[in-house]
Amino acid sequence: MIRRMATDPIPQFPAGFLWGVSTSAHQIEGAVDERERSVWDAFTAEPGTVKDGSTAAVACDHYHRYREDVALLADLGVDAYRFSVSWPRVNSPKGLDFYDRLVDELCAAGVRPVPTLFHWDLPVTLDWLERDTAARFAEYVSLVAERLGDRVGKWITLNEPAEHTLLGHALGTHAPGRQLLFDALPVAHHQLLAHGLAVRALRAAGATDIGIANSHGPTWPASKEQPDLEAADFYDLLLNRLFADPLLLGQYPEGIGELMPGDVEADLKVISEPLDFYGVNYYAPTRVGAPQGTEIEFGGISMPAELPFSVRQIEGVPTTDFGWPVVPEGLTELLTAFRDRYGDRLPPVVITENGCSYEGVDDQERIAYLDGHVRALHRAVEAGVDVRGYFVWSLLDNFEWAEGYARRFGLVHVDYETQVRTPKRSYGWLRDVLRAQR
Ligand code: NOJ
Repeated sequence: MIRRMATDPIPQFPAGFLWGVSTSAHQIEGAVDERERSVWDAFTAEPGTVKDGSTAAVACDHYHRYREDVALLADLGVDAYRFSVSWPRVNSPKGLDFYDRLVDELCAAGVRPVPTLFHWDLPVTLDWLERDTAARFAEYVSLVAERLGDRVGKWITLNEPAEHTLLGHALGTHAPGRQLLFDALPVAHHQLLAHGLAVRALRAAGATDIGIANSHGPTWPASKEQPDLEAADFYDLLLNRLFADPLLLGQYPEGIGELMPGDVEADLKVISEPLDFYGVNYYAPTRVGAPQGTEIEFGGISMPAELPFSVRQIEGVPTTDFGWPVVPEGLTELLTAFRDRYGDRLPPVVITENGCSYEGVDDQERIAYLDGHVRALHRAVEAGVDVRGYFVWSLLDNFEWAEGYARRFGLVHVDYETQVRTPKRSYGWLRDVLRAQR
């Protein structure tokens, strides 16, 4: 559905506001033979794991075409570029050289590099069920910081540990494909611990601007009936509080700490190391009700009947090609609720991802989506939330995990046969918005 285009200019954001775009290593780099294997390589080698049967073996071939992609960033006029460093690549002989070249290229183009240190592509030899993976992560982070720290100012430890836990280890629709349901909770704890240890490693290497990118969204109960309210509250706990509370309050939501492995009290001290910013990936709110006793297919994810909640359609709003509801107001609601819950404990917020999947290069729907969300973000700023940046997901169409190449989130279209990049209409829209903000 095409929404009426807003004609008013986007309101002015505070001085120093950081505008950027995001990608991740596994989704764009390709060049799999030039690095160690990751859990995603192993997962996609199994039949039936990715809807179109594809893998990320080539993806956008960014590993070889990064110069062209940096030129696209420079023409777009973004201040910053959020990419991820592939741990399996860093484990390989020439892996760090690639990020060294990429960072140099970005600096030369006047674009600030913002690396994410883990975006789901765990080396295949490691496992988040093991506590030791957290210590190994901190060692790897130290190596990266030592090599890139002279040119990188802003760091993101983990991307969406909630999705990596839920999809990868509880439901099995993402790598490594485990279906542990609630027995996946240690995976959340070990990632949070890894985050805390990484913050310490980065600080030891002299870093001063450190955050995490967590996915969050408002949870809307399906009705005011008690079973729906309880189910929605539980879903909200899993998506929002399970990750934000330990990071920002130094404690798990009630009843969760007992389920976590190890010396949880001591770990929480590490997990709640102060952050310089809190990254939020926002896509949509979720409507949640009591379980319906059947397996549910939603937004490309199939959810087993045993879950104590069920996800419902949000009626009366447009949806993206992925079937995700388009609700810009959800972003204002989320941020003001966060400010109210965490108060002074919430560091400045950066929107580390926001975007949508639509076909085609004349992508008016993407413009409408982004326009609506940027305005909603501005309303949060007006309401007093300290927001310092906004990153669009994504620069390029790319490998959308279990959906393969079918979902196109890019501002730039990628022809996967020829690797030709074609800026979409939304790319021009964002460039104009950025010019007007200067
Ligand atoms: C969140 C993830 O961080 C990213 O990898 C993914 O492509 C987008 N959301 C869109 O689903």
